[in-house]
Amino acid sequence: MANILCIGAGFVGGPTMAVTAKHCPEHRVVVIDINEKKIAAWQSDDLPIYEPGLKEVVLAARGKNLFFSAESERNIAEADIIFVSVNTPTKTFGQGAGKAADLQYWEKTARQIVECSTSPKIVVEKSTLPVRTAEAMERILNSNEKGLFFDVVSNPEFLAEGTAVEDMQQPDRVLVGGRQTPSGQKAVQAIVDIYAHWVPREHIITANLWSSELSKLTANAFLAQRVSSINAIANLCERTGADVTEVAHAIGTDSRIGSRFLRASVGFGGSCFKKDILNLVYLCEYYGLNEVAKYWEQVVKMNEYQQASFVSKMVTAMFNTIANKRVAVFGAAFKAHTSDIRESPALAICRGLLEEHAQVVLTDPYALESACIDLQDVADWVTFESDPYTAAKGAHAIAIATEWPQFAELDYEAIYKTMVHPAFIFDGRNILDHKALYEIGFNVYAVGRPPLTHFENAHPVS
Ligand code: NAD
Ligand code: UGA
Repeated sequence: MANILCIGAGFVGGPTMAVTAKHCPEHRVVVIDINEKKIAAWQSDDLPIYEPGLKEVVLAARGKNLFFSAESERNIAEADIIFVSVNTPTKTFGQGAGKAADLQYWEKTARQIVECSTSPKIVVEKSTLPVRTAEAMERILNSNEKGLFFDVVSNPEFLAEGTAVEDMQQPDRVLVGGRQTPSGQKAVQAIVDIYAHWVPREHIITANLWSSELSKLTANAFLAQRVSSINAIANLCERTGADVTEVAHAIGTDSRIGSRFLRASVGFGGSCFKKDILNLVYLCEYYGLNEVAKYWEQVVKMNEYQQASFVSKMVTAMFNTIANKRVAVFGAAFKAHTSDIRESPALAICRGLLEEHAQVVLTDPYALESACIDLQDVADWVTFESDPYTAAKGAHAIAIATEWPQFAELDYEAIYKTMVHPAFIFDGRNILDHKALYEIGFNVYAVGRPPLTHFENAHPVS
């Protein structure tokens, strides 16, 4: 039996440790956090995050071999293996501000581990970190005066929000990186053994520390790049009459390209894509690779363009003014099946609409509460409405900002009757039946498809 500890009970720490506890009944798994409110929520029936299937997994193990606690000292002292899953946001100050990863929370945990430890431990990097962070971690941990030795292992997390439990239960791969020393390899094996409880051995990849750290940033950069690439093409589709869905299908059937992650949209959001690419950009600049840095930075710039151009498309289509017009924004979460609103394109769209003095009504099945907090500074001008029918009532336009399947199942005929005419729908996720909406009477604008409007001589909007 091993005592496994996870520092950081966030989107990653909570679900990963719940799944680990479920599959490793002989191990004791404790998750700690400095945020006591979050810990209290993990201990309650009202978990701090919404993830399909999460509650069942937590309830199955909690109190048996899964524990959430705010007490760090004792739990660190007792642990054999410590996963560190604290936040590593983009630095907002000093050297590297706006690009580099802010490693203060990470470093604090390293110092805390040294302070509270009375035995050697394996420390696992679960957070996403710049390549070679493990070196700094080793130096901090191993310059202790207690004669304790700590092995540092990299085990980046690839789960996506909304499918966190499924991704953890059946990962495409698990990556474990370590030092090529006997002690380093023993530590790698200890982590591999944990995952081997439920992940087929051939899906567990081992690598050197730096490859493991860099693979995480690279995976996110490649995924985000695909979204920006298809969005770039979507813009060209809108000007030329091509349909991005057809283009994506046509290219996606090439097995070298593959069909996934080719959904044109209002842009990617989430806490990680932008921060991890900017971190990669910073690293390239640090190593003097300026052209490489510019190449990756363009993925983020394209994404910002995509969000801004969605709002300007709305303004242009609605006769060049949306001032004082009620606009219903459907979706606040950065993607469907999550309550997370971090870097959500939906909120960027809300802010863009507010700059045009629109009356924004925001609706979302799970993320309204967090959106309300995020938009606090402009809350006087936004209405938060849980019912999409009420949100659309009296509106000139609906903007689909999150691909919640619920939005595709609404009665748009009924909605149309309650809206101001001519009524507009801007489907920023291409989830609706555009032809059916057009037949109801809507003027329909999608991403990367020619608009369907009832106006004569309508040209693709710019
Ligand atoms: P999060 O903000 O949801 O959770 C991090 C938690 O760490 C917070 O609750 C915070 O209070 C806690 N924390 C910070 N310092 C602490 C300390 N000293 N002691 C105890 N707790 C402390 O972040 P997250 O989304 O879980 O991401 C964590 C890391 O995992 C990041 O590096 C992120 O890039 C990476 N990651 C995230 C995802 C994702 O889907 N969110 C996926 C893969 C990797
Ligand atoms: C992403 C990665 O998919 C995970 O592997 C990674 O672990 C995680 O980041 C991380 O490091 O945080 P996540 O951000 O949760 O996961 O969600 P994704 O499904 O990747 O979607 C990201 C954004 O891209 C969303 O806003 C989504 O709507 C958008 N997207 C995705 C598109 O616009 N089009 C697509 O085809 C796919």
